[in-house]
Amino acid sequence: MNDAPIGMFDSGIGGLTVMKAVMKRLPHESICYFGDNARGPYGPRDIAEIRRFALEIAAFLEGLGVKLIVIACNSATSAGLLEVQRTCKVPVLGVVEPGARGAVQATHNRRIGVIGTVATVHSRAYLRAIHALDAGAKVHSRACPTLVDFVERGEIEGPHIEGELDRYLAPLTRREVDTLVLGCTHYPLIREVIGKVAGEDVSLISSDWEVAREVEENLVRMGYLRSPKPPVYRFMCSGDIEQAIALGRLFLGPEVEKVEKVELPLRVKGS
Ligand code: DGL
Repeated sequence: MNDAPIGMFDSGIGGLTVMKAVMKRLPHESICYFGDNARGPYGPRDIAEIRRFALEIAAFLEGLGVKLIVIACNSATSAGLLEVQRTCKVPVLGVVEPGARGAVQATHNRRIGVIGTVATVHSRAYLRAIHALDAGAKVHSRACPTLVDFVERGEIEGPHIEGELDRYLAPLTRREVDTLVLGCTHYPLIREVIGKVAGEDVSLISSDWEVAREVEENLVRMGYLRSPKPPVYRFMCSGDIEQAIALGRLFLGPEVEKVEKVELPLRVKGS
């Protein structure tokens, strides 16, 4: 048993879709969530800069005594998972590999589409992760830079977002992808409209459930599951608290009651 919390972070509140899946699967686990909303979105930023942020946040969470870290952001996973794993003492999981595995298991024609932020798509992390599992799979990726803004405005349905998705997805459906990876932790919130535009023959894969399964596997293997008692959830952000609470409730639910502001640059406890 290990009663320490799990640490999770994202460029803002998108990673709460992953937290929700972990809360459902592992209802006794406590979680410390950090949303870097002062510097997010990460998608348009430079890969080296995102990697630096990921290293800083992981060190901060480790300093809080977490037992495992989940990088609940595709852009940060793509930019820095390996470096964060190298520098942390606790295990670190990302969201790309689980999504890639889900897609390879779901496809019938081995044509996989990937949508995500500019940083995620340019890093080619999904291409590498899918090809590590099936080198013959055809991967078609498309950066969708405006989708995060739609979600954060709460505009998760209607003709405007459908038109935008139509423009993004047309080149992928033309290539007959039968599986589409939602390569951004914001996208599970617009799953319905993505499915409507992609068509019912296209399987949608998001990593939230896959990540939750992987977290459980890791904790069981290490003997680190928490004793069965009510969990403690702690929410922290680097920017606007009111916005984090409002969007946090939309993404996760009423559990987001209080959000603590943590000033940047993050200080690592004990150093
Ligand atoms: N949640 C982030 C991701 O999964 C998207 C938002 C951002 O651009 O930072 O990539």
